[in-house]
Amino acid sequence: MKNKLTYLLLLFFCSQSISASVMKTTNEPDSAYIFAYATDKNTNHNGMHFAWSIDAETWNSIGPENKFLGSDYGTWGAQKRMLDPVVFQDEDGLWRCLFSVNEKDGVVANASSPDLINWRPQSYPILTTAGNCGAIEVGYSTKDKHYFISWVSKTGTQQGIYATTTKDFHSFTPVVSVPEAARVNQRTKVQIAGEDQVGTILKVSWNTIDELIKAQKLVDYKRILHGETMAGDAVRFASLKPVEASITVNPTQSKSISDMLIGIFFEDINYAADGGIYAELVQNRDFEYALSDKKGSDPSWNSTKAWSLKGQGTKWDIQTADPIHPNNPHYAVLAVEQTGAALVNEGFGGIPVKSGNKYYFSFFGRMLQGKGGKITVRLVDGNGDVCGVSAVNCSATSWKKQEVLLTATRTVTKAHLELIPQFTGSVALDMISLFPQDTFKGRKNGLRPDLAQVLADMKPRFIRFPGGCVAHGDGLENMYRWKNTIGPLEARKPQRNIWNYHQTAGLGYFEYFQYCEDIGAEALPVLPAGVPCQNSSHGGHGQQCGIPMSEMQDYIQEVLDLIEWANGDAKTTWGKKRAEAGHPKPFNLKYIGIGNEDLISDVFEERYAMICKAIQAKYPEMIIIGTVGPFYEGSDYEEGWRISTELGLPMVDEHYYESPGWYIHNQQYYDRYDRNKAKVYLGEYAAHLPGRPSNIETSLAEALHLANVERNGDVVSLTSYAPLLAKEGNTQWTPDLIYFNNTEVKPTVDYYVQMLYGQNAGDTYVPSLVKLSNQSSAVTKRMAASVVRDSRTGDYIVKIVNLLPVAVKMNLDLSPLGALATQGVYTVLSGKPDDKTAKPVTSLVTVSDVCKGEIPAYSFSVLRVSAGK
Ligand code: AHR
Repeated sequence: MKNKLTYLLLLFFCSQSISASVMKTTNEPDSAYIFAYATDKNTNHNGMHFAWSIDAETWNSIGPENKFLGSDYGTWGAQKRMLDPVVFQDEDGLWRCLFSVNEKDGVVANASSPDLINWRPQSYPILTTAGNCGAIEVGYSTKDKHYFISWVSKTGTQQGIYATTTKDFHSFTPVVSVPEAARVNQRTKVQIAGEDQVGTILKVSWNTIDELIKAQKLVDYKRILHGETMAGDAVRFASLKPVEASITVNPTQSKSISDMLIGIFFEDINYAADGGIYAELVQNRDFEYALSDKKGSDPSWNSTKAWSLKGQGTKWDIQTADPIHPNNPHYAVLAVEQTGAALVNEGFGGIPVKSGNKYYFSFFGRMLQGKGGKITVRLVDGNGDVCGVSAVNCSATSWKKQEVLLTATRTVTKAHLELIPQFTGSVALDMISLFPQDTFKGRKNGLRPDLAQVLADMKPRFIRFPGGCVAHGDGLENMYRWKNTIGPLEARKPQRNIWNYHQTAGLGYFEYFQYCEDIGAEALPVLPAGVPCQNSSHGGHGQQCGIPMSEMQDYIQEVLDLIEWANGDAKTTWGKKRAEAGHPKPFNLKYIGIGNEDLISDVFEERYAMICKAIQAKYPEMIIIGTVGPFYEGSDYEEGWRISTELGLPMVDEHYYESPGWYIHNQQYYDRYDRNKAKVYLGEYAAHLPGRPSNIETSLAEALHLANVERNGDVVSLTSYAPLLAKEGNTQWTPDLIYFNNTEVKPTVDYYVQMLYGQNAGDTYVPSLVKLSNQSSAVTKRMAASVVRDSRTGDYIVKIVNLLPVAVKMNLDLSPLGALATQGVYTVLSGKPDDKTAKPVTSLVTVSDVCKGEIPAYSFSVLRVSAGK
């Protein structure tokens, strides 16, 4: 049915274009009218629409209500609104749209377009902090050669009219109060489909209208293609006969490709770090949880979170006087009148312990009253039975760290920790930690071995960290500042996590770099471009609140210091700190990301350019990775590419989360890329289906995309699926690559695709031609092959993706590759489209059998063969 619909739409789309161009020479006027408007539907989230008319009386909507321009101002949900757009053509012939963003912010949002279709960039200058900018109007003074912008501002019951002028929509004169008479009403009320709408009428050429109609139809057409899912396969392929594929390889056309294609995107989202891969078992060890972590929505989320007092005779509270470190101001005080009560920590949904395993228990203590003495430390299960016990001394009157190794006597999945002072008096406690001795590679303050290992098994060639949105943060104060995350744990600066929880910074830059080294991956830190996330809910003005220019030099120095910290010798200021932390040898950092899918505005561009130029000047060898927005097209993508090209950056970071249909219908996406421009780091991507599952369908869409990426491995250098980790019951985003709980790791089907690509990477691409017995495009688009050679082993690797509901009979001719081993390793991942549990099956095979064998329906197959045996 859907297939038929696609066909009819395509037919309609083509016939409309044809008839439009035929009509153009006959009955169409030279010019007509466009009406630009936004409705208040969906609380003003629907953006700007157009309608057209021959006589400015009868209006025909284009869409209806297609979003030609949307607002990107402020946080998702409450913001991203467009009110009262006004559209006009400026003196240079560019179309401009000015609009209000809400009822409180003094912002005149503006964007420009050469054709009314492609709008960019968006800019949100804050012109006043006294009220909003509503009902914006704009005029032009030929005498002064400037635009005069006025608006109605409301604060409480007060209403005033204000204005500014600009020549370029980048800089504006100071805001002044103006009389009502200074305004001309640019808006008209018209009826569209029986409803009154208010907007601006523009006279344009018929061709402009024709192009708008075509653009909208193209949007509809793509929506249908990209909406194709395997649920429609039964109908789409109802009459599909068995398919045969002949695949030939052509090594004479081989090319070098990146051998770094598969990497890891690590972000502390979904409890990936604290409560996740960072092995600390005590939740809120530093008593720094704060109401503000969750924007006040959870009153229990405070310094006492995860802690409680069990028993009588003791009181406890949180104090801040004379803390261990100003970055860690809160601590617990136990006032013990009668011994026996316990301070209890519940861990992150319980503390899992294994019989015989050892755990470092440590804390900082300070006696406020009394002499102190022993504190009993116990691990206790849900029935109240002890499963590990020890004791530590606490008698110092200034902060002192104490540590003891505690052995678990039983395996318990959900224990809790108890601290029982054996003395009366008043004792201050902070940084109460229980850390498994068994971490990945035995690193102190290290990682959960099962999670760290499942990532290592992917053979990632790099790790990007600390995000994602965590990198640029929710408002200026929330930017991830690397210096806050190194050094002694008690001196690190914890902060609110943009994903609405708490970041201890226990997993900080040193630990990230160490993990990269431990698994042989390059470190790829991403630093804010001097602006926070454009979707920030803090600071009120989205990313327009960039770091003040007066502080930018300090910020740039902070970025440069990171490179010295990573690569400088132990005698340099920052290299010394790395050495003191236990790594005298440089980490040999090669990549540095600046910005994370930021809105490309003036505020961004100015700061981004300053940072990039400073790195280029001091560290020309550094591979700076620029940012090009959150989508595969549009204003941020275009502008991001433009600026990065102007700056001569060697690589840019692309992000897109798209439907399986998008990946199927965009297989040539990178084939068209200019090989002389920057290389691509596809930093975030995943296939998203409605309901956001991870299953065979999403994994095969990603396998297909990676096959196309491998073919373009001369322009795409790095890729990383996102997000990576998600703790069950604590997810803010789905789908993720690997789910886990306190004791189990649950890789998704999508993980196995990443793993198979990572384990079977090559550095030479060998072109191959897939010829199918059925040449319909629905069929040919669902079958792909990629052949690479790994020069380290000399192996050839053939990857075949079959998104068809039928098995495909193969005729794979590898003879042009020369002599090959008769035996190879063959791995197949297959299942029904909604299968969430499929796992790859690997076997030793006779290569000729595979070459003449059958590729299962809905499958991803990898054949690895050594050369010359
Ligand atoms: O991967 C989850 C989020 O998606 C990232 O934090 C952000 O960069 C993107 O929007």
